[in-house]
Amino acid sequence: MCGIAGYLGFREAYPIVINGLQRLEYRGYDSAGIVLVNENKLTIHKTKGKVSDLKELVINKNTEANLALGHTRWATHGIPNDINSHPHVSNSGNLVIVHNGIIENYNTLKKELLTRGYTFQSETDTEVLVNLIEEVKTRKNCKLGKAVQLALKSVVGAYAIAVVDVNATDEVIVARLGSPIAIGIGANNSEFFVASDASPFIEYTKDAVYLEDGELAIIKKEEDIVIRKINDDSIVEPDIQELQLNLEQIEKGGYDHFMLKEIHEQPNAILDTYRGRLLADQDIIKMGSVDNNIAKFLNAKRIIIVACGTSWHAGLVAEYLFEDLARIPVEVEYASEFRYRNPIINKDDVVIAISQSGETADTLAAIKLAKSHGAFVFGVCNVVGSSIARETDTGAYTHAGPEIGVASTKAFTTQITVLTLIALKLGNLKGELSNSQFHKYIQEMSLIPSKVAETLKVNAIVEEIAAIYKDAPNCLYLGRGYNFPVALEGALKLKEISYIHAEGYPAAEMKHGPIALIDESMPVVVIATKKGHYDKVVSNIQEIKSRKGKIIAVVTEGDTIVKDLADHTIEIPFSEEAFTPLLATIPLQLLSYHIAVMRGCNVDQPRNLAKSVTVE
Ligand code: G6P
Repeated sequence: MCGIAGYLGFREAYPIVINGLQRLEYRGYDSAGIVLVNENKLTIHKTKGKVSDLKELVINKNTEANLALGHTRWATHGIPNDINSHPHVSNSGNLVIVHNGIIENYNTLKKELLTRGYTFQSETDTEVLVNLIEEVKTRKNCKLGKAVQLALKSVVGAYAIAVVDVNATDEVIVARLGSPIAIGIGANNSEFFVASDASPFIEYTKDAVYLEDGELAIIKKEEDIVIRKINDDSIVEPDIQELQLNLEQIEKGGYDHFMLKEIHEQPNAILDTYRGRLLADQDIIKMGSVDNNIAKFLNAKRIIIVACGTSWHAGLVAEYLFEDLARIPVEVEYASEFRYRNPIINKDDVVIAISQSGETADTLAAIKLAKSHGAFVFGVCNVVGSSIARETDTGAYTHAGPEIGVASTKAFTTQITVLTLIALKLGNLKGELSNSQFHKYIQEMSLIPSKVAETLKVNAIVEEIAAIYKDAPNCLYLGRGYNFPVALEGALKLKEISYIHAEGYPAAEMKHGPIALIDESMPVVVIATKKGHYDKVVSNIQEIKSRKGKIIAVVTEGDTIVKDLADHTIEIPFSEEAFTPLLATIPLQLLSYHIAVMRGCNVDQPRNLAKSVTVE
């Protein structure tokens, strides 16, 4: 993956392209570069590192230009260094290119160009491509668009490219095969934007064309965009779409990282999840997909939950919710284990599949298996129209909005919100929750967004705690009941983004193993909220203290007992026990975030992980 951003028009191109590259950095951040194009002159700045390094490099330099192409690179051919960075220029110095993708036959093409006298500065396939275009252009004596089309016919691989000729500075040629590219069109064709996704130009225009594979676009100032098929040069009518994206959704919004932004989005995300579903003033929970299948839920002998990662932790919280509030037996399964162990699935089982991305391969396979046994499968997904949303019989979206940080945060709390609504509704319909209890829960639920907002105020104290424990090699997380899955999720967050070994345990299970690890160098995070088996957890804290472990306790505001015992306390608002996961998880997200930042880790893109795991 790489990111491309370009501008042709009447504005200063530099800030538009640089900001655009920063929005595309999730696509790769090995190196960054930009070419500023003026009449008969290309000015190139490029460097190993991030777009911020490029900005540093360009500071105090003249950046005037109304045409520029930029690139942020995820290295494929050639190590990440300044020379291999894009843009790349042809031997004559006339043509300049940015490229996302891989030219598979670049070696053959390079050998041929070498015999024709071409020389190469870099190890990249991209420099081969720009010289191939130059060779065709010279040999055929044709315009740039034609030369690009002919050159691409002899290319094998994947690409999204933007090419400019210094002698035709009112024109950009763009082409695509396998790698995405969008073109933003300004009013009356006065300006054009080129980018790997629409995020770099969202504040300038809502009109965009997404090139299809095998298409090439000729973009000329003040003229209608022309799209041709690369294989036969035939004209394609541009499909100009109106963008639905809004700026806040895809920007960090002033936060240093998407993860931090997404942590802070949780009050609104939870509100969006229950908007139109939780009608607190009428004591009603309205969920079309549950209402329409209510008999299946009420007659279910058992609920089986399948999921992976953080979504599996949300499933564990749901086990407590469904069993406690609705008295329905629940089994929570790792989708990867469930699918391969010949599970017993009955027709009157309800299977709930939980997935943020809606694309996780194991979860998808588990759904197919459950369906083949005749079970009714309900999906809880965030990404609208995703494979899991389509594969399940029905389901409920979490409406959390795009989650960009690889470590899941708001997806977790919104999944729990959806599952809480279902459990409350079933509990009431089954008569397990009286109307007055149901009323109490509904009222309490409607306060959760403001309590989450209140909880976020612990950020500063959590940051101080993070500074003390950032170098710990291990960390233990303990919780009981509803907060046991929260402990697991807290440990997972720390592992994922700070690379500190962490384990989550039911607090009482500590005695059966982990207690052997406790000494004065072991931080132990304990969720010790009121109502959550408080007295038992206090005893567990005593046990840790006797072994000199360092106790970081998440407590209910006003707590005095744990405060006296723990090394650090983090206060969160009081809530019904069933809702504590929605609050107690927030400080743990912040703790892992701050520790990761202090350790210099890449918070949003931790090593070896991916946001969507589409392989088993
Ligand atoms: C990956 C992600 C996790 C996520 C898990 C399940 O491991 O890094 O954040 O919890 O997949 O993904 P899903 O999209 O199915 O919730």
